[in-house]
Amino acid sequence: MQLQPPKAFTLSAHGAEMPAIGFGTMTFPRPCAELVAAAIACGYRMIDTARKYGTEAEVGEGIRASGIKRSELWVTTKVTELDAREADFLKSAETSLKTLGLDYVDLLLVHWPQPKVPFAETLGALAKAKRAGLARHIGVSNFTLAMLDEAWRVCPEPLITNQLEYHCYLPQDRMLAALKRYGMILTAYCPVARGELLNDPVVGEIAKAHGKTPAQVALRWLIQQPMVAAVPRALTKEHITENLDVFDFALSDEEMTRLSALRARRLRVVDPPERAPKWDEEPLA
Ligand SMILES: NC(=O)c1ccc[n+]([C@@H]2O[C@H](COP(=O)([O-])OP(=O)(O)OC[C@H]3O[C@@H](n4cnc5c(N)ncnc54)[C@H](OP(=O)(O)O)[C@@H]3O)[C@@H](O)[C@H]2O)c1
Repeated sequence: MQLQPPKAFTLSAHGAEMPAIGFGTMTFPRPCAELVAAAIACGYRMIDTARKYGTEAEVGEGIRASGIKRSELWVTTKVTELDAREADFLKSAETSLKTLGLDYVDLLLVHWPQPKVPFAETLGALAKAKRAGLARHIGVSNFTLAMLDEAWRVCPEPLITNQLEYHCYLPQDRMLAALKRYGMILTAYCPVARGELLNDPVVGEIAKAHGKTPAQVALRWLIQQPMVAAVPRALTKEHITENLDVFDFALSDEEMTRLSALRARRLRVVDPPERAPKWDEEPLA
């Protein structure tokens, strides 16, 4: 089934029109090109990959197999924190393009902050990648509030997103307020908390009331908030299709509030000690 999200479900930031739902490709079993092509065939127009994931070659293969015009797709990739020096950063971006088999990506992100390299150097390289045409838009990932401020101070090009862990079990209110000030999108990774959210009784009850699945409710809660996008990852065709089919219903204010209250659990799924920054405290209320 072809599920085309309506055009209204793109988010605008600094001249970019980014789809609100994308297809995540981290920790994919290989080969995965067929899954990428299947996601595009069912209507996904944004694919999220990274140098670190090792999926860029198959993302490129899946895109070519899909037969969709390049201009209709949004491809995001990321440069690891080990390539934060300017020369390494630009080489990584070029390697990504070669591996993907693309002339440009729609979005290039700094995957994790690297405290050992001045932000001015890494963010400067990111802007250079954009100015050289390697990426149409640029952004960051896993940046804290202070890092976001610093990034804006030193980056000569606008940043359109901060890709972060965000779902009903993890509040991001202060980050959302900061992103709003900068006109940026919050791209939510682990949007179903790697499955943790799917057995929650509140999510289940709301899903039942709408004739939807828990994953669809978890995703709808995200994209119903202003300037929030999500990149769920799924391996089965059923899950892939289901995760895009979230544009034909709306949660009531009361349901949004009930789902927001689940944040009391404060579950952070991704927190690698070797690269995670000291995360900001986010209030529960
Ligand atoms: N920037 C970063 O540092 C960063 C970090 C982590 C992730 N990401 C990005 O975010 C993407 C998603 O995050 P994630 O993979 O960590 O977590 P996720 O999307 O929250 O969870 C994926 C898990 O949820 C299951 N699932 C997904 N849709 C489902 C559905 N409709 N029904 C039932 N189960 C469902 C999947 O099962 P099946 O596989 O069985 O379908 C898989 O086990 C990644 O692929 C990556 O692109 C970025």
